[in-house]
Amino acid sequence: MVNAAELRRAAEILQEGGLVAFPTETVYGLGANALDAAAVERIYLAKGRPRQSPLIVHVASVAMARNLARVWPAAAERLAQRFWPGPLTLVVEKSPRIPDVVTAGLGTVGLRCPNHPVARALIEAAGVPLAGPSANRFGETSPTLAEHVRRSLGDAVDFVLDGGPCEVGIESTVVSLAAEPVLLRPGAISRAELEDASGCPIAGRVATAPDSAHPSPGLYPRHYSPLTPVWLVAGEAPLPPGRGAWLWLRTPRAAERSIRMPDNPFHYGRLLYKTFHELDVLGLDWIAVEPPPEDSRWEAVADRLSRASYR
Ligand code: TXA
Ligand code: MG
Repeated sequence: MVNAAELRRAAEILQEGGLVAFPTETVYGLGANALDAAAVERIYLAKGRPRQSPLIVHVASVAMARNLARVWPAAAERLAQRFWPGPLTLVVEKSPRIPDVVTAGLGTVGLRCPNHPVARALIEAAGVPLAGPSANRFGETSPTLAEHVRRSLGDAVDFVLDGGPCEVGIESTVVSLAAEPVLLRPGAISRAELEDASGCPIAGRVATAPDSAHPSPGLYPRHYSPLTPVWLVAGEAPLPPGRGAWLWLRTPRAAERSIRMPDNPFHYGRLLYKTFHELDVLGLDWIAVEPPPEDSRWEAVADRLSRASYR
């Protein structure tokens, strides 16, 4: 795990404008001081991330979030009280204190208070909010272990805090409250839970397009992909030719690797990226995945699988 000396060192690096990868309950983040435009520039370079893709900002408390918002809607307060610290990102109008490079020039900012002791201790030790996308090269599978970060980013990151495996395993739910509430990215916290806690209707996901201006410019149809091609293969459809892995829920089939995935969506989410990372080093020709049930509880897993297999 992480000791006090490592935490101090990491906080110093952040204060000096460096990059620190840190564990959260969802995936590892690549952190920089969100108030330091030059430091945030380095995140885009390290990830090879397009400039039009905004970063989320991690805070240690609701008070810190309010301070970074120009407007803090009542619904944001209710959702933060209910789900923070936790896997929920709230998009609100941004305070002018946040440099434009963080939000890709948008007038809004995504704020999240992570529920991981190392993440929160790091933000507190550094004394600043942390801009933090997932700590992987752009488009690749997000890291759920410190070794995934090192493998993907190498020397581009100044320091990696190893907090062990991420509990949730897929990225936070993103909801925008800057205008009519809308779910931008499904995650462990469902739309129904958000509606219940906020007391307002939350529109479903918006369609995404690679280049057009839309409410969440960082959401690409192809994303979260292992290097090995992923195919969603329903029912009795044939598996691709060559050597591959079959990730199944109900239908065992012969393949070089046959992996039974958990039939609970939260357990499945926790294992999904870990499985992709493990399979990626085997040099297989394909990863075929049995589609999950069409049920709202599986929305986040289905979203990541459809992006990982998009072509
Ligand atoms: O769980 C997570 O959210 C992880 C951990 C590290 O906290 N972070 C993460 O960051 O997944 P990233 O950059 O990989 O994804 C952030 C998502 C993107 O899809 C982006 O489009 C959306 O949040 N987003 C960020 N700021 C936004 C804004 N101002 N308006 C709309 N969408 C925004
Ligand atoms: Mg990412």
